[in-house]
Amino acid sequence: MFNFQYYTPTKVVFGKNTEERVGALVKEFGYKKVLIHYGGGSVIKTGLLDKVKSSLSESGIAFTELGGVVPNPRISLVYEGIELAKKEGVDFILAVGGGSVVDSAKAIGYGLANEGDVWDFYEHTRTAKACMPVGVTLTLAATGSEMSNASVITNEDGWKKRGYGSDYARPVFSILIPELTMTLPDYQTACGCTDIIMHTMERYFTSGGNMELTDGIAEALMRTVIANAKVLRDDPANYNARAEVMWAGSLSHNDLTGCGNGGNDFATHMLEQELSGIFDVAHGAGLSALWGSWARYVYRDCLDRFCKYAVNVMGVKGATDEETALKGIEATEAFFKEIHMPVSLKELNLDPTEEEMDLMAHKCIIAAGGKKGSAKVLFEEDLRKILEMAR
Ligand code: NZQ
Ligand code: ZN
Repeated sequence: MFNFQYYTPTKVVFGKNTEERVGALVKEFGYKKVLIHYGGGSVIKTGLLDKVKSSLSESGIAFTELGGVVPNPRISLVYEGIELAKKEGVDFILAVGGGSVVDSAKAIGYGLANEGDVWDFYEHTRTAKACMPVGVTLTLAATGSEMSNASVITNEDGWKKRGYGSDYARPVFSILIPELTMTLPDYQTACGCTDIIMHTMERYFTSGGNMELTDGIAEALMRTVIANAKVLRDDPANYNARAEVMWAGSLSHNDLTGCGNGGNDFATHMLEQELSGIFDVAHGAGLSALWGSWARYVYRDCLDRFCKYAVNVMGVKGATDEETALKGIEATEAFFKEIHMPVSLKELNLDPTEEEMDLMAHKCIIAAGGKKGSAKVLFEEDLRKILEMAR
């Protein structure tokens, strides 16, 4: 078991009609002028944006707004947000939307609290010294950005999608309203469930330390999301299933499932960043398209954990450990198919050229600093092979 640090400063307000509390929350933390940040319009259509504005006004909080965040959020809008926030003198950024909006808000926060080009942080050439505080009203259960220290931004110049993490960016509060996720297209709900499971898998499949309690939490989280993803496929308006998935989303990426095991594989995530950076696919779908190939490539180096996962999460067992591990991988891919997620690049409607495959493996390993993975340490040629297996 490894030493660990666990830091989750985010105040979570969970449940029905809690969007009405946003103004009071901003006031409670002492902020006076808010930049409301949102995406392509779902929050206008659902009426959420108006409710948020009313709540802020009732609490005497001034605000300005910037919409237009796209999935795989762009640095150009981040720059725009920084300029606007400076001009308007805001002291708080409120993300109203999914993970892309939250990530864009965090990037604006970095840009406001530090000198120089905010992209430097995403290139890892400088570290941030602060971040303007961010609050969240979440509309999509997926990324865990509502409690995580991470944000992922795409630079249109070279279509580089890069992540940056620091505790400064952990949201001050997050309002989680399961009902808001009922307007999601089925595909986005399934992408979200996949991403949530993957955030736990990235920590669970480790050749590092071991902590029974952490493993138990991780396994329960994965089982819960798998069961409820299937409920939501058939019954998208099921409140309890929405609530289970939403809370799992926050816990899967706030580091709880990495305590004591040093779990930090994230090779599938980093490869997926290259896919969605270049081809602009939905993050969850990119992950499911790659995961089986990654798992088959690495499982022998992490056999105990693949067996434990097969038995405790997927409920399958073979005659030998190797067979058990492979059955667990097959069962996971079968689950992805059940919720209509792709398990290959072809199913993701992608047929990259050899050059594009080379480029993705190369960009990925540069971004990772030369190697990536904990279940198995991977180098550029490994990543290239995994991509090929995923065709
Ligand atoms: O833009 P709008 O109109 O709001 O529509 C969005 C968008 O088209 C729509 N949507 C969101 N909530 C909705 C809704 N539609 C109807 N009803 C609702 N309630 O869904 C679409 C996708 O939204 P997006 O925010 O892009 O999805 P998600 O939350 O999955 O975020 C994905 C981004 O987060 C990054 C991903 O790489 C990707 O860029 N990640 C961030 C992480 C983090 N910060 O910790 C970790 C993750 O691993 C991930 O990499
Ligand atoms: Zn993810």
